[in-house]
Amino acid sequence: MKCSWPWRAVCADGVRQAAFCICSDHSNNHADYAGSNRDNDKTTQENTLLMTTLLEQTCASLDMVVFTHTGADRFRPESVLPEWMLGLLGTPHETDGYDLVDAFPFLSCFMDEARSQWQQALSYPVRSGSWIETDLFGREVPLEASALFVNGCEVLILQQLGEKYRAEVTLLQHVRDGLLNQEFLEAEVRKRTGEIRQREEDIALKLISLTSFRDQETGAHVRRIGLYAAAMARALDWSETEVDNIRIAAPMHDIGKIGIPDNILLKPGALNEDEFAIIKQHARIGAEMLSGTDIPVLEMAAGIAWCHHERWDGSGYPRGLAGEQIPVAARITTIVDIYDALIHERVYKRAFDEAEAVAIMRGLSGKNLDPGLLKVFLYLLPVMRRIKDEVREEDEGLQSLALDTGVR
Ligand SMILES: [Fe+2]
Ligand SMILES: [Fe+2]
Repeated sequence: MKCSWPWRAVCADGVRQAAFCICSDHSNNHADYAGSNRDNDKTTQENTLLMTTLLEQTCASLDMVVFTHTGADRFRPESVLPEWMLGLLGTPHETDGYDLVDAFPFLSCFMDEARSQWQQALSYPVRSGSWIETDLFGREVPLEASALFVNGCEVLILQQLGEKYRAEVTLLQHVRDGLLNQEFLEAEVRKRTGEIRQREEDIALKLISLTSFRDQETGAHVRRIGLYAAAMARALDWSETEVDNIRIAAPMHDIGKIGIPDNILLKPGALNEDEFAIIKQHARIGAEMLSGTDIPVLEMAAGIAWCHHERWDGSGYPRGLAGEQIPVAARITTIVDIYDALIHERVYKRAFDEAEAVAIMRGLSGKNLDPGLLKVFLYLLPVMRRIKDEVREEDEGLQSLALDTGVR
């Protein structure tokens, strides 16, 4: 009789090879040898016993049962049925096998899927993943099925996952609890960060209002500066925190004017050299007011206040810094401050239209203004125009540094 589904193994001596059939065509396992003595019946029996024992022990230690398909939905066990499987089958031993699809309806779809897989790649092993059955005693039994097709025989292996499954479920629950906890903590951090940010913005508003817009600056101008600068920072791919920082920090660029006497700050005509020297002090005064903390938004604001009159070519004040020696936040603020001053009316000048303003700014590229950042600014002109239209000069009060629409 030919074996249609052999289990092969190398015996302990590493020489003899034994194979026996557990296919549905055979009522008894029999053995065939490729080894030292094919005709030795005694050795044949020993090896058959060895292989049977090996299969039994493997199945027992892995908590699994091997079945072969005998037709229709019936499967015959090829290893001893353990207690947990008897509790699930609930029927006495049946010589022609068990109706496993009736016992485990889940297997109906699983075997259909396995058979369709085998049409593409014969003997392709298919695994079900875990599912739960309830036994005769009401206990939940986690199972996993594997099916393979070997030498014309469908083999179904059912494994009881037991502790391994419970350990995995417990682990998943811990992970889920951890994630929920993490989500909660992240939401708390976001909430607290939002509160801190709002407080920083309130402080900035108070500081700006201290100057009472004593020169020609208006509340609308201050707000627009922050929004223009934030748009630039976003285009430069800054983090959201940094974008928010410059939105709040840039409006404080002229805060040092609080230290300039009215007779100079509000003087209608041209300033003489001494008066201009005093006006220049507002950069240093502003930096001193804002520095000395480790609050990032105030540190940025101090840098902007100190450097917003520096020029790319080094001809600015107060220190004559050039190029990238000037903090990038200050270089951005310089560009947007000039743009906003140009397109709005002041007591000493008319409002230029956008084309005129852009022409003037192009003329300042590489002199007053960082040429690279100016390109970014010009690319963003439609955004700047929208900010200008939304934050109008006549909107006197300064209640917020964000857009009324909530856009920051
Ligand atoms: Fe200034
Ligand atoms: Fe300004």
